[in-house]
Amino acid sequence: MSNDKDSVSNPRFLTSPETISDIVARRISRREFVGGAAAVSTLAITGCEKPKVETKAAPSASFSFPEISRGIDETHHVPDGYVADVLLRWGDPLFEDSPVFDPNNQTAAAQLRQFGNYNDYVGFISLDPDADGNDRALLCVNHEYTKATMMFPDVAEDFPKHMTKAHCETEMAAHGGTVVEIKKQGDKWVPVIGSPFNRRITAGMTPMTVTGPAAGHPRMRTAEDPDGMTVAGTMYNCAGGITAWGTYLMAEENVHDYFSGVLPEGHRETENHKRYGVGFSPWFVWGTFFDRYSLDKEANEANRHGWIVEVDPFDPNAKPKKRTALGRCKHEGAESVVSPNGHVVLYTGDDERFEYVYKFVSAGKFTPGDREANLDLLKDGTLYAARFNEDGTVDWLPIVFGEGPLTPENGFDSQADVLIETRRAADLLGATPMDRPEDVEPDPRTGRVWVMLTNNTRRTEDQLNPANPRPQNRFGHIIEIIEPQGDFTATTSRWEFLVKCGDPSDPEVGAMWNAQTSANGWFGSPDNCSIDPSGRLWVATDGNDNTGGADGIWAMETTGEIRGTGRAFFRAPIGAEVCGPNFSDDGKTFFVAVQHPGDEPGATHQEPMTRWPDFNPNMTARSSVLQIRKKDGGVVGS
Ligand code: FEO
Ligand code: CA
Ligand code: CA
Repeated sequence: MSNDKDSVSNPRFLTSPETISDIVARRISRREFVGGAAAVSTLAITGCEKPKVETKAAPSASFSFPEISRGIDETHHVPDGYVADVLLRWGDPLFEDSPVFDPNNQTAAAQLRQFGNYNDYVGFISLDPDADGNDRALLCVNHEYTKATMMFPDVAEDFPKHMTKAHCETEMAAHGGTVVEIKKQGDKWVPVIGSPFNRRITAGMTPMTVTGPAAGHPRMRTAEDPDGMTVAGTMYNCAGGITAWGTYLMAEENVHDYFSGVLPEGHRETENHKRYGVGFSPWFVWGTFFDRYSLDKEANEANRHGWIVEVDPFDPNAKPKKRTALGRCKHEGAESVVSPNGHVVLYTGDDERFEYVYKFVSAGKFTPGDREANLDLLKDGTLYAARFNEDGTVDWLPIVFGEGPLTPENGFDSQADVLIETRRAADLLGATPMDRPEDVEPDPRTGRVWVMLTNNTRRTEDQLNPANPRPQNRFGHIIEIIEPQGDFTATTSRWEFLVKCGDPSDPEVGAMWNAQTSANGWFGSPDNCSIDPSGRLWVATDGNDNTGGADGIWAMETTGEIRGTGRAFFRAPIGAEVCGPNFSDDGKTFFVAVQHPGDEPGATHQEPMTRWPDFNPNMTARSSVLQIRKKDGGVVGS
């Protein structure tokens, strides 16, 4: 999320802008947090107990690669002994008839046949899971959003004056997702152009079925879709997940960015849209050309976005499904696990300041070996919001119509209402407002769940809570949730900090790292994360540039005496954030999505801050998926 407009939508926190005088006052008056060497030797300062759950085969001292150094320049960096090759770039061909990418003459028709823009989540599904070596796979890649001034050569001057309907259609075609078959060729993976699995999913153009409690509800109906059952496409697909039955989940995040105009006076969606920031700061001008994105003309379209979308990547003709049972918010990701009792549990963070962490427990149970039986598990279940308590427990608060405050007295008449207004439901239940929840990833091996909290510069001293203890939190933190006895369906869990990010040598920062963390090993703004096939945690950042270094990927030790040690593995080129990261099943390829390279203040399509990865004067910077491997063919990170 680089189009960060410092947004807050939670009404309880709207009056907390950070000013210079706030910062000065804070630096003088803030109670001392333990920092630097003191902090790293006192991991117990969190006041939370160590987890009681038995961990299975948790690794220790697990990373041995030579760290890369902090810095920022025009290209990417990996440790000695590793190599990073480009696998897919914005505009690369996917089909036999894909036109050659021409950055100066883009069309929607061409983009529909090419790899989309701003790659984010990367999911890996092996096509030969029983064979040695993972030689064929499907890669499922989200294309989060676009930035017109970096995408097109002819719109930067007086933006958005020169934006046309054709520009908007090309943007829509560059959104969504790509399913692409890849195969091993020598040491490297290559895309299989023309594979029958290859597919583009887009905004505006790919019909999607609405499922679950909100399907067909009057608030989901529009002039285009009077039944409220079919939505035109998906947008702002940030992170996601791959389910145990091999479907691809796309998380819709900042969907408010697409809606312009104003609702008619007194419209019933006014407060709802306000709670989601809809109509307040449109980033796109689609509403000028398409009624569905204009609040003046269509009040309900925004309710049809902000969901998790499930895609069957094995059937390119299958309609993606919007899973309303999983709630509506600015979903960062959608990582799931099959709990020992058979229910599927999906975790998601709502990425905005003072928003919440959620989990969903399926009503049905996973049936091993019967894919068909599992394909609709995400249609029904219970959604919960997290309350992080001072005693180290987490209460999961059920978001169920008719329970507690979720009643007609508070404006809810059905479970559809509750889910369309998930945020307000969680407000009323007393969920804990967090410092921008990004990826939330469960580890079935250990019963632990990693929660990335990227930052929150708007939090003031009087808005602190046990799980978000730093005012003006510029660097974020990582929380560990421990599900009791590995039961992910539990309604009471435990939590503790893994690290508080930022420079441990600056006491003002209040960071918390293990003392073994080097000057390169700490970071800020954790965003996406991945658990590798051996159970080790890797963290990608978005916003680490406020530490003086580029965004990148750090390996994190999570157990034993070295718990809380970071280790620098990857550095992105200037202007980019790092998304996706995910591993091949054998752990020997690390897929890393580099998003919006060269996008710094003042940069444009014609003058990006870097022309990564092509370094061709006739080619602008391109978001790309890298494949990183060890030169000796070993497991990444070993
Ligand atoms: Fe799309 Fe929260 O990053
Ligand atoms: Ca992200
Ligand atoms: Ca992830």
